[in-house]
Amino acid sequence: MKKILIATGFIFLLIVSGCSNSFAPMNPSPNNEERPNEQMKPPSNNKGNQMGMMGHGHDLPLGSSAGKNELNIPPILESDSETKNDVHYTIDAQIGQTEIFDGVQTKTLGYNSSFLGPVVKLKKGQTAHLTLKNSLEEETTFHWHGLIIDGEADGGPHTVIEPGEEKEISFDVKQDQATLWFHPHPEGKTAKQVFDGLAGLLYIEDELEDTYEYGKNDIPLIIQDRTFDDDKQLNYEAVKDPDGTMGETLLINGTVDPRLTVNKEKVRLRLLNGSNMRNYTIQLNNGEKFEQIASDGGLLNEAAELSELQLTPSERAEIVIDFSQFETGEEIKLMMDDETVLLPFKIKEEKPSSENTIEPVKNEIEITDEELNLPVTKEINLSGMGHHVAINDKQYDKNRIDFTQKQGETEVWEVYNEPDMMGGMIHPFHIHGTQFKVISINGEKPPKNLQGYKDTISLDPGDKAKLAVKFEEKGIYMYHCHILEHEDNGMMGQIEVE
Ligand code: C2O
Ligand code: CU
Ligand code: CU
Repeated sequence: MKKILIATGFIFLLIVSGCSNSFAPMNPSPNNEERPNEQMKPPSNNKGNQMGMMGHGHDLPLGSSAGKNELNIPPILESDSETKNDVHYTIDAQIGQTEIFDGVQTKTLGYNSSFLGPVVKLKKGQTAHLTLKNSLEEETTFHWHGLIIDGEADGGPHTVIEPGEEKEISFDVKQDQATLWFHPHPEGKTAKQVFDGLAGLLYIEDELEDTYEYGKNDIPLIIQDRTFDDDKQLNYEAVKDPDGTMGETLLINGTVDPRLTVNKEKVRLRLLNGSNMRNYTIQLNNGEKFEQIASDGGLLNEAAELSELQLTPSERAEIVIDFSQFETGEEIKLMMDDETVLLPFKIKEEKPSSENTIEPVKNEIEITDEELNLPVTKEINLSGMGHHVAINDKQYDKNRIDFTQKQGETEVWEVYNEPDMMGGMIHPFHIHGTQFKVISINGEKPPKNLQGYKDTISLDPGDKAKLAVKFEEKGIYMYHCHILEHEDNGMMGQIEVE
C-alpha cells in the first residue's frame, strides 16, 4: 500500500513538476490570488512526502541505552557577580572537542564548554545581565526558549552576534519557577548549530520551597539523537533531512549509553526534548505510573498521574518517579516506546529518612470565562513537508510582520495542522516570548498535563488547538514549528507586540 502511494505521488509529482518553481508559497501569480490553496498545495505536499518517505531519516530507529556510562550532570553556571537584585553572567558560544566515545575526540559546539552548556539559574524578581559572546566562526544568536522577555533580547534571527563579537542584554525575571532552555536561532542555521551541540538549560527559581537537590534527586535530562560518522564526528550536511534530522545514537546530557544511579526516594526528572525532530513517548519499562508536576512554563495546578507522556521537540516536562516502591537491583528503565531504552536506573539500597516534596498547588492556572468567550482572532494554518512547509501558505520573510498584538491583551489563536493526502506529520508549534494556555484541542478540554503553561504544543495531522496567548513584553517575536529543519525551511512567522 505504501509503495503504491509513493508511486502515485511520484507520478503526480512528475506531472506537476513543471510548475514546481512557480508555486513558491509567497508569490501566487496575481490571477491565482483567490485560490492560492488549491494552486499550491498538491504539488508541495507530494514533493514533501517524497522526500519525507524516501529520505534517510524517518524510520531511523534509535539505539537503546546499554547503561554503560553514568549520566553527565551539567554544571550550574557561576555568576560573574550577584546581589539580591541583580545577577551577571557571561555565556560564550564556543568550538571544542569532546570525548563522547571512549578515546575519541569529536568536534562539537558548546556554551562555556566544548559541548552543550551549563544550567543558567535566574531568580524571579532579579534583573539579569547577560554578556553573550560569539567565539564561533559563524554568526549566531542566543534565544531564551520559554522566557518572558522583550523581543530585542529574545534572540530571534534579527539579533545576530557576529563571530568574535559580544553583546549585553538585561531584563527583569518575572515568571514563576520553570525549566526553560536556550539555543541559537540564526536564520536558516538553527538546526545545524543545535545539532553540533549548542543547547543549555535555563532554570527560573522562585520563593517556593522544595526538598529536591540538584544532581542528587533533581536531575535534568536533555534528550537528543545524533548520527556520528565512521570517525565518530557529527557531520550535519551528510545526514540532514528536510523533514527533520534524526539520529541513531541516543545522547542524554551528551552521555552515550547513559544510566542514572538513584536512591530509594522520589526523584524529580526535568525532561527536555532537545532533538531536531524525534518525538519520544516517555514511559517506564514495567508500565508503572509516574507523576508529571510541571509542563513547559512551570508547575501544574496539581500533579498528573501518567503511564505515558509524549514529548515533541523543545517540550519540557518535569516528572517525579518514586523509587521507594522498587527493589534494589530491580531493572527499572525509562523508555521512549515499548522497546527503546532511554535511561536504565541503578537503584541503591540507601533509603532517605524523609520524603522529597514540592508544594503541590502553586499555579492557579485555569481558563477564565472571559478567555473561553473570546473569539478567535489569529488563525494559524500549518501545512506541507520538506522544503514546502508553510504557515498560512507563506514562508518566513524577515521583512514581513505577519501579525500584531497588543501588549498585555489576551487573544485566542487557533492553530491547525492541515493534513495532506498522505497523512501529514506532527508539528510542534512554538511561540516566543510567552507562556500560553491551551483552551481546547479539537473542541475538547486538554488533558490534565496540558492544563498548565506551555510554549510549544504538539499537533497531530488534523488537530486544531485553541490557545489563550498573552505577551507581557513588546517587540518582534517568532512563532514556528520546532522541528528545526522545518523552522530553517521557513515554517515560521513573526508577530509584533506593541
Ligand atoms: Cu526553541 Cu524559536 O525556539
Ligand atoms: Cu523559542
Ligand atoms: Cu513541522
